[in-house]
This record gives sequence, structure tokens and C-alpha cells, in this order.
Amino acid sequence: GGSGVYRAEEARIARGTIDTNHAGFSGIGFVNLARAEGSYAEWTVPSGAASAAALDLAYANGTGADRPMDVTVNGVLAAVGHAFPPTGGWDTWSTTSLPISLKAGANTVRVTSTTADGGPNLDRITVR
Ligand code: GCU
Repeated sequence: GGSGVYRAEEARIARGTIDTNHAGFSGIGFVNLARAEGSYAEWTVPSGAASAAALDLAYANGTGADRPMDVTVNGVLAAVGHAFPPTGGWDTWSTTSLPISLKAGANTVRVTSTTADGGPNLDRITVR
């Protein structure tokens, strides 16, 4: 349980927009989080059972600096300041992964910008 792809346009967003002005995203658009600490995107990930999983985050970072984000699952930190290094351009997408723990039922996976630069652009997450 819990496996699947969750796209930008399915996210709940606090301080950000769904944009389309950089190529290479999947689906309808990507999440552009506000350049502010605390801007976030979250998804509901259903799981049939409590389980360990891998979380892949597809992102672009066209700057020269990391855009770190905290990752929480059901309000519990899975990563503090997880790195989203430069990808070489806003239309160049990469994936970064981390382990997460899911509970049975609906899980809330949230990524939150930890600096005033905000997060990277986010195309989708994959739980596997
Ligand atoms: C540029 C880019 C945006 C990106 C932003 C940022 O404005 O076009 O897609 O989100 O930089 O620095 O976060």
C-alpha cells in the first residue's frame, strides 16, 4: 500500500502556485513555492498497512545553491533540511529520495521550505 505518483496539481500548497513556465514537468504543472521560509506543499498518501517506503521527489533548482526542505509524514520529521541541490536550470529535473514510514490509512506527506529562498520547483512525488 501507499505506492503511487502524486503530482504537483494534487498538492495542497501554502504560499505558492502551480506554474507551467519551465519545460519538462509531468502532468498539468509544477509547484512553485514562495521564496519564504515555511512555504510548503503536501499530499495525502493512502496506505493499506503500516510500512516502510521510499519517497522520491522530482524537482528543479535553477539556482547555484541548495534549496533545503524539511520533510514530515503525519507531522513527524522524516528529514531536516533535506538537500535539493542545483539541477543546472529550471527546465532540468532531477530526483532526490529518502526513506519514510507510513501508517495504515491516510498519510500526510509535507515538504516545507527552511530558508527565505523557499524550495525548489516540485513536479511530483513518488512513493514506492
Ligand atoms: C525563478 C523561476 C521560478 C522559481 C524561482 C525561485 O523565478 O522562474 O520557477 O520558482 O526562480 O527562485 O524559486
